[in-house]
Amino acid sequence: MACPPPRHPSRRQVLVWAGAGAATLALASCAGEEEAPPLPRPGERLLPVSEVPVGQSAAVTTSEGAELVVTRPAEDEVVVLSAVCTHQGCTVRRERENLVCPCHGSTFAAVDGAVLQGPAEEPLTRVPARIESGDVVVG
Ligand code: FES
Repeated sequence: MACPPPRHPSRRQVLVWAGAGAATLALASCAGEEEAPPLPRPGERLLPVSEVPVGQSAAVTTSEGAELVVTRPAEDEVVVLSAVCTHQGCTVRRERENLVCPCHGSTFAAVDGAVLQGPAEEPLTRVPARIESGDVVVG
């Protein structure tokens, strides 16, 4: 029996940042609310890992509205972070090696979400993820 094809979010938005020049592709909306951001369900397939070049990041919005950043630090390694800034909820974007919030300038490490520059005090929320059958999968 053949395996079913991989299921990806139907309304997924994927933007691959290819360096600082592509920062204009980033989303820059501010939620302005203290609501916890939605996170994807375990087992959810986010995108083919081939869409994230080694050393780069891709923005993914799941069908349920979770805004994520998938970073591929090495050939067989992915890091998935919530793209929602922990300061006031704007969406971070990749700039060079880091993730930067366009609202007040907080800067986070793309490889682990650590705060490199405030005003944010908390790191970006990390989402457990793995590479499975060529896809980035939550869990
Ligand atoms: Fe990101 Fe303020 S919302 S720094």
